[in-house]
Amino acid sequence: MTRTLSIRQALTVAALASATLFSSSAFAFDAAAADATLRREGCFKCHAADRKKDGPTYREVAARYKGKPDAEKRLLTHITTGEKAKFADGHEEDHKIIKTKDVNEIKNAIQWILSL
Ligand code: HEC
Repeated sequence: MTRTLSIRQALTVAALASATLFSSSAFAFDAAAADATLRREGCFKCHAADRKKDGPTYREVAARYKGKPDAEKRLLTHITTGEKAKFADGHEEDHKIIKTKDVNEIKNAIQWILSL
């Protein structure tokens, strides 16, 4: 009896541990909220997940930064400082600066982009 119980407890602990790992790693962002942010900020005018517009697709961006530990920081700088952006026709202009000052909201959007 005690033995059965402890096996069950062990299984419960294992299940909880894997659920925690799952939700705290690459899946921590909220995709619907990210979509709402990028929509409100006008980002989809030049970007889509996988349809080429004036800017690179977010899937291309995710591929470019795959496995790079500083990806999130790099993109945070990119969308908050107005770096020079090179367009497909060769002209350059300052990249749009995201309006919200809510860093968590911006990071959520970046994590979604990097997950594509
Ligand atoms: C007027 C068009 C335009 C708008 C609006 C725009 N972007 Fe961009 N974006 C670009 C272009 C062009 C590039 C490519 C820059 C380059 O490679 O030099 C780019 C690049 C990026 C990249 C990749 C940067 C990198 O280092 O690879 C990300 C991420 C990005 N934009 C996010 C956003 C977000 C988030 C918004 C909304 C706040 C946004 N963009 C709005 C045109 C736009």
